[in-house]
Amino acid sequence: MQTSLHFFLFFITLWVSIIIPAVQSQCIKDEQLSLLQFKKSLVFNHSTKLVSWNASTDCCSWVGVTCSRNGRVLVLDISSEQISAGIDSSSSLFQLHFLQSLNLADNQLGASIPTAIGKLLNLRLVVLDLSSDYEYLKLGSPNLHRLVHNFTELRELYLDAVQISEQGNEWCRAISSSLPNLRVLSMSACDLSGPFHESLAKLQSLSVIRLKWNYISAPVPGFFADFSNLTVLDLFGCSLHGTFPKDIFQLPSLLRIDLSTNGQLKGSLPQFPNNGSLQYLDLSGTKFSGLLPNSIGNLKMLSTISIQDCNFNGPVPKSMTNLTQLVYLRMANNKLEGSVPSFSMAKNAINIDISYNGLTGTIDSTHWRNLTKLSRLSLSSNKLDGDVPASLFSLPLLCDLDLSSNQFSGPVPEILNVSSYLLNGPDLELDLSSNNLEGPLPMSIFSLRGLKTLNLSSNNLSGSFPLDDLHQLRNQSNLQTLDLSDTQINGKVPNWIWSFSNLRYLDLSCNSLDSLEFHSINLTNLYYLDLHSNRFHGQIPIFEPPCNVHYLDFSKNYYSSIIPSTIGDVFLNVEFLLLSSNNLNGIIPESLCNPQSLKILDLSNNSLSGTVPRCLSMLVVLNVRRNNLTYVDEFSENCGLETLDISGNQIQGQFLKSLVNCTQLEILNLGNNLITEQFPCFLRKTSTLRVLILRSNKFYGRIACQKTNGTWPVLQIIDLAHNNFSGEVPAGTTLTTWQAMRTRR
Ligand SMILES: *[C@@H]1O[C@H](CO)[C@@H](O)[C@H](O)[C@H]1NC(C)=O
Ligand SMILES: *[C@@H]1O[C@H](CO)[C@@H](O)[C@H](O)[C@H]1NC(C)=O
Ligand SMILES: *[C@@H]1O[C@H](CO)[C@@H](O)[C@H](O)[C@H]1NC(C)=O
Ligand SMILES: *[C@@H]1O[C@H](CO)[C@@H](O)[C@H](O)[C@H]1NC(C)=O
Ligand SMILES: *[C@@H]1O[C@H](CO)[C@@H](O)[C@H](O)[C@H]1NC(C)=O
Ligand SMILES: *[C@@H]1O[C@H](CO)[C@@H](O)[C@H](O)[C@H]1NC(C)=O
Ligand SMILES: *[C@@H]1O[C@H](CO)[C@@H](O)[C@H](O)[C@H]1NC(C)=O
Ligand SMILES: *[C@@H]1O[C@H](CO)[C@@H](O)[C@H](O)[C@H]1NC(C)=O
Ligand SMILES: *[C@@H]1O[C@H](CO)[C@@H](O)[C@H](O)[C@H]1NC(C)=O
Ligand SMILES: *[C@@H]1O[C@H](CO)[C@@H](O)[C@H](O)[C@H]1NC(C)=O
Ligand SMILES: *[C@@H]1O[C@H](CO)[C@@H](O)[C@H](O)[C@H]1NC(C)=O
Ligand SMILES: *[C@@H]1O[C@H](CO)[C@@H](O)[C@H](O)[C@H]1NC(C)=O
Repeated sequence: MQTSLHFFLFFITLWVSIIIPAVQSQCIKDEQLSLLQFKKSLVFNHSTKLVSWNASTDCCSWVGVTCSRNGRVLVLDISSEQISAGIDSSSSLFQLHFLQSLNLADNQLGASIPTAIGKLLNLRLVVLDLSSDYEYLKLGSPNLHRLVHNFTELRELYLDAVQISEQGNEWCRAISSSLPNLRVLSMSACDLSGPFHESLAKLQSLSVIRLKWNYISAPVPGFFADFSNLTVLDLFGCSLHGTFPKDIFQLPSLLRIDLSTNGQLKGSLPQFPNNGSLQYLDLSGTKFSGLLPNSIGNLKMLSTISIQDCNFNGPVPKSMTNLTQLVYLRMANNKLEGSVPSFSMAKNAINIDISYNGLTGTIDSTHWRNLTKLSRLSLSSNKLDGDVPASLFSLPLLCDLDLSSNQFSGPVPEILNVSSYLLNGPDLELDLSSNNLEGPLPMSIFSLRGLKTLNLSSNNLSGSFPLDDLHQLRNQSNLQTLDLSDTQINGKVPNWIWSFSNLRYLDLSCNSLDSLEFHSINLTNLYYLDLHSNRFHGQIPIFEPPCNVHYLDFSKNYYSSIIPSTIGDVFLNVEFLLLSSNNLNGIIPESLCNPQSLKILDLSNNSLSGTVPRCLSMLVVLNVRRNNLTYVDEFSENCGLETLDISGNQIQGQFLKSLVNCTQLEILNLGNNLITEQFPCFLRKTSTLRVLILRSNKFYGRIACQKTNGTWPVLQIIDLAHNNFSGEVPAGTTLTTWQAMRTRR
């Protein structure tokens, strides 16, 4: 991107220097006076240009001023001077009658500026720049037409972030009727709407079209392909739809095209001509589909390809080997197949991401050796197999390697010939998880000193060893993400693991860990803590606040304590709290009402007794199945539960009618309790219900409700077995109206 941006700036500069010969000449006195008067009227702050304007020097030497041979001011650039006021219709700016280029970009000008400029400026203007990063300027009245219609010579118009707020037929016609020579049209984030009006087709000289972040919401017309000098087309985030005209890609002058983030825009890639000049291709987040043409290898200048999150399929063309200028290759999340081609000629490559596709085969260790600038390689979530080549670790600048979720096998490579950058560099990320890697965990991995992310989980590693023995891990003070789940570690979770002050994500689940040291630990940064499926026992650990954990999973262990009464005050920011399948006893503490962010609470498969507190109706998922609970408080009006499972307890039915308040219920499991009630007809307005389980209770009476048309349109599972229901299941009413049970979903 950098490269193309530079090229682009060069291109613009070139332009200005062609039309406006920059000559050091003697300033004309009138012009100098006008400029000084102009400066005096301005309200500005922290100037880098205007400060150099003073009467004792020649105005042609002032920063931001360029003169003609005979001392006329041709170019005025006072961009980014924090000018906040001082330009109106009477401004002496408008006495500069020879001005050809005016750049007021990145100032905080008021609404009156465009009015003044539109009325008064001379008609020779070739370049006008009022753009900014923020919406400071507003074009209400006069509208765009009145601003530009006298500037018939204008070749470059920059109004980025000026609030224009016009329909397609207005802004397109304003420009096409007044600016026949326009080459640069830059109106990003101007609150423009579509559709593109056909009159734009007149602007045959257009070379740069930048309209990103406007709500065009229309197709791109075919006549764009007739702009034979088009170099830049940027329509990022314009809500475009329809099918993009293929021939635009074939314009020989095209350097940059960005159509990204137009989720409804369809299209496919054409055959690319030989010697295409395209450098930057971004189609990410669109509905582009089809094959990547073999002729993409003709685009010898291509340095960025971003096609992630599209629908491309078929192989990655072997011809991409010929793309020697490639720097960024982002093709994640398509349906690409076949093998990973060699990018060995792309010596400037920095980032290669082909994750989330269907690539197969092995990765050839020799293909990567030349990529001495490669910093990130992601091939995750494909079907690649074979060894993980150790040579990848020798790439001198590699700092992010993600090979997770493939079928790589063989040993985790010993990292022997490791580049000094990888050895010492900051922010290393290594993810080899969810493969079939075997053998013992090589200790050499921990010699990489700057690890930020390490994920080795879910392989077939062998050789059980104590976590506390990973002495080298101890020195990884940079760690933010550590995932050693399912790696056969055992013993204690040593205190030193909490000393990683940046640790945000710790997953040690599915191992044989049995105790946890946690003296005076500071968990300020820890966000995710997963210790499920280990052999922890005794007391549930309670850390010292402040504790920002959002995800906490202690389930499937052997904890046998009560749930500490302060739990909700300690984990005050918890969203997911999972304590299921332990031997917890005692009551559900009221302090669980305190974390406002709590959404998912799973206490199932324990020996809890007593009551389910009322406040828990604020959760989204509450699972207390298989405990020894006897009572449920009534659910309150703001009940947000979508899933409620209280099955397998000793609960009687007093609370039942208050479920009316849980209008978003999807899954309701009341099975295996002591509920003595009639069929819950009072739930018939809960139209979201998908699963209703009443089995093994003492429900009685008829399985029917009056006026049942439309009850539970999405119900898929209902289990009424082992109750005391009586009478017939009435045809034509309750059961037959459950539409979703008939149509398969
Ligand atoms: C000028 O800049 C200073 C420091 O950035 C700021 O505090 C002050 O408000 C600015 N004044 C105006 C008029 O923008
Ligand atoms: C005028 O500007 C020049 C160049 O920036 C500077 O050297 C000089 O001191 C200034 N003179 C006065 C009177 O401010
Ligand atoms: C701009 O055009 C309008 C109408 O076309 C005209 O009345 C006005 O005089 C023009 N302004 C200048 C400065 O030429
Ligand atoms: C395209 O650019 C070339 C070279 O700058 C120029 O000669 C030609 O007139 C331009 N075409 C149009 C339609 O402006
Ligand atoms: C492609 O460019 C090269 C060198 O720039 C030139 O020699 C060759 O003729 C061109 N080929 C085509 C088909 O334009
Ligand atoms: C690379 O380009 C050369 C010359 O244009 C061509 O002969 C060769 O077939 C291309 N390689 C691939 C793999 O397409
Ligand atoms: C690496 O680059 C050299 C030229 O610099 C080239 O000869 C060699 O074939 C490349 N290696 C691979 C594996 O492509
Ligand atoms: C180690 O890596 C360097 C740099 O990539 C390479 O030149 C060298 O041949 C490698 N040595 C071994 C023994 O593989
Ligand atoms: C915990 O660590 C953070 C920085 O990581 C620090 O700001 C905070 O003061 C520490 N808190 C305690 C109680 O040590
Ligand atoms: C359930 O609670 C009752 C007393 O309320 C007690 O007798 C019984 O042992 C408990 N069962 C379990 C499995 O904890
Ligand atoms: C619904 O909630 C309100 C407020 O908490 C309560 O008064 C009412 O009794 C509940 N409805 C039922 C049917 O229990
Ligand atoms: C139920 O629907 C049937 C046909 O869809 C209709 O004839 C009947 O009147 C409806 N009954 C009620 C109570 O709405």
